[in-house]
Amino acid sequence: MKNKSLVSINDFSREEHIQIMDFAEKFEKHPTQKILEEYVVATLFFEPSTRTRLSFESAASRLGAKVIGFSEPGSTSVKKGESLRDTIITVANYSDIIVMRHPLDGSARFASEVSRVPIINAGDGANQHPTQTLLDMYSIRKTQGSLDNLNIAFVGDLKYGRTVHSLVMALCNYNTTFHLVSPDELKLPSSVKMHIKENNHEYHQYSDIMKVIPHVDILYMTRIQRERFSDPLDYEKVKNSYVLRNSMLEKSKPTLKIMHPLPRINEISIDVDDSPQAYYFTQALNGVYVRQAILAAILGVKVN
Ligand code: CP
Repeated sequence: MKNKSLVSINDFSREEHIQIMDFAEKFEKHPTQKILEEYVVATLFFEPSTRTRLSFESAASRLGAKVIGFSEPGSTSVKKGESLRDTIITVANYSDIIVMRHPLDGSARFASEVSRVPIINAGDGANQHPTQTLLDMYSIRKTQGSLDNLNIAFVGDLKYGRTVHSLVMALCNYNTTFHLVSPDELKLPSSVKMHIKENNHEYHQYSDIMKVIPHVDILYMTRIQRERFSDPLDYEKVKNSYVLRNSMLEKSKPTLKIMHPLPRINEISIDVDDSPQAYYFTQALNGVYVRQAILAAILGVKVN
């Protein structure tokens, strides 16, 4: 993984995903280790973020790295019209690795082609969010004991949800049955469904969330993303499609875990937060350990 960019979840193999999760287990036990004191990590966020940016910055800081970057592109020379290419070439001169979030699909791949330092994709449009996927896999492995032989439901915006696209692709490396719950307008793209079929897994599509709750090991809720709709009326039609309430979990497996990449709007009622099945805030915490593992692996630093 040394010096490799992480743009798509498939840029790393199944064995490399396992290596990252194993490193993350070590960081969870010892989160503060000054193993990256020689390095500068740049975080370039052209789109809003709370968890991804701050957990990367926390991960880098706990490992002793210096962090530079921006979360407001309007305060940089992007505002004067500087191209993404020139921004990346410039920041690559100031840093050893670049973490980038950008609203355009494919922007992270483009950045990796012009950068002389590795690029970590922190979300590119509706395309991919591979570091979220690694923390999601880590969370599933930690709570279920394995990534194999699981029934996993994805609920909400499966069309534009980049976290869903990356996670489905990664779970195709394991024996997974996929349960896809969405309004008609927000079904999983055909290309991702084809990936499931090519890997000889089953998927089932539903519009009613209650049909899946009793049967699944993981309920992966997602936000209907207002910012991905070009027509606000289309968003209005689907925005309240799913609201998970505690009373709806009565027939669920005791081992069920409810995950969500967050932020949430109203798709998980706060009365679910106290349930032992609610896992989304711990999932976000796991992001620090997994991002420590990703930084160490790509910078080629030994993990103790
Ligand atoms: N899960 C996630 O990407 O959250 P942020 O948008 O807050 O980074």
